[in-house]
Amino acid sequence: MTPIYQTSTYVQNEVGVHKGFAYSRTGNPTRSALEANVAALENGEFGAAYGSGMAAIDGVLKMLKPGDEVITTNDLYGGTYRIFKTIFEQYGIKFHFVSMSGTEAIKEKINANTKLIWVETPTNPTMQIVDIKAIAELAGKDILFAVDNTFATPYLQTPLDLGADIVMHSATKYLGGHSDVVLGILVVKDEVLAKEMYRIQNSSGAICGPMDAFLVLRGIKTLHLRMKQHCINGKEIAQFLVGHPAVDKVYWPGLESHTNHEVAKGQMKDFGGMISFSLLGDNKEDALNVVKHVKIFTLAESLGGVESLIGHPATMTHAAIPREERQKTGVVDSLIRLSVGIEDVDDLLEDLAQAFDTI
Ligand SMILES: Cc1ncc(COP(=O)(O)O)c(C=O)c1O
Repeated sequence: MTPIYQTSTYVQNEVGVHKGFAYSRTGNPTRSALEANVAALENGEFGAAYGSGMAAIDGVLKMLKPGDEVITTNDLYGGTYRIFKTIFEQYGIKFHFVSMSGTEAIKEKINANTKLIWVETPTNPTMQIVDIKAIAELAGKDILFAVDNTFATPYLQTPLDLGADIVMHSATKYLGGHSDVVLGILVVKDEVLAKEMYRIQNSSGAICGPMDAFLVLRGIKTLHLRMKQHCINGKEIAQFLVGHPAVDKVYWPGLESHTNHEVAKGQMKDFGGMISFSLLGDNKEDALNVVKHVKIFTLAESLGGVESLIGHPATMTHAAIPREERQKTGVVDSLIRLSVGIEDVDDLLEDLAQAFDTI
């Protein structure tokens, strides 16, 4: 097992000659092992690990300068939206939030100041799929293209192979896999970009600790096994929801009816365990009843752990977005989001069925 180097500083041979590590903000052997591991999984060359997914995103945005513009998905993790709008906008960076179900809206916004395209795919919570290859072609050499690969993980999708420049992870989710650590990672292929990434990581200092790096390394050992089961369980639950009389829309990229299902099929190995659905009649009380009565699904923020979680975006993750705004992107009052875990799927189906019976 990779040792946990609970070490801040390292013995040097002589002045200016160290043995590979000098100070743990700059580099730590446990963190380096994790960085190399995730870089390999993403078919990249260089990894950088941070104290959270948000710190990793911060590390990308700091590559920009006042006057630069960013084009990003309009369906975005709330924390990413918040750092863009309330932190980086005040340093003179401009953000355009557009629909990325096609490339038209991106083309309209690209101009000489565009320096970064930032996407999530699948998105949170309506699991929209963005065509990574098509956007990489649009971005070309002059615009950085970053993909938040948290939902898919490198087991299902490797954006660098499809032309992205940067892959970002909230390793808090599937990579860690056990809801016991908060950590973020960036991976790049290009050496010049890597130098910039490490310069900012070291200068800003938002690194993860060695124990957390160890926990994510341990989680990754079972990533492929967990992801397989998340996908199997996800499929069964999506099909159950499609057939249930109380359910209106089901958002899961594996359904043929899903917008961009074909794109998902082309760029993902399978479709994962994240599912959202709305209820017929769109009654908030009905949704709250379902969320309240489940016994195996646990009501909680976050996702990607081995245990199944359930959430109500309108009152939880997306509560800060005005009702009219969130309704436009499908985040209606009755929307429920599931992070399907790896438990026995019959138990999960039974749990949902009995919760539906209470409405
Ligand atoms: C898609 C996505 N990106 C980024 C983040 C932020 O990561 P962290 O919570 O590790 O800072 C999250 C957290 O929920 C997320 O779901």
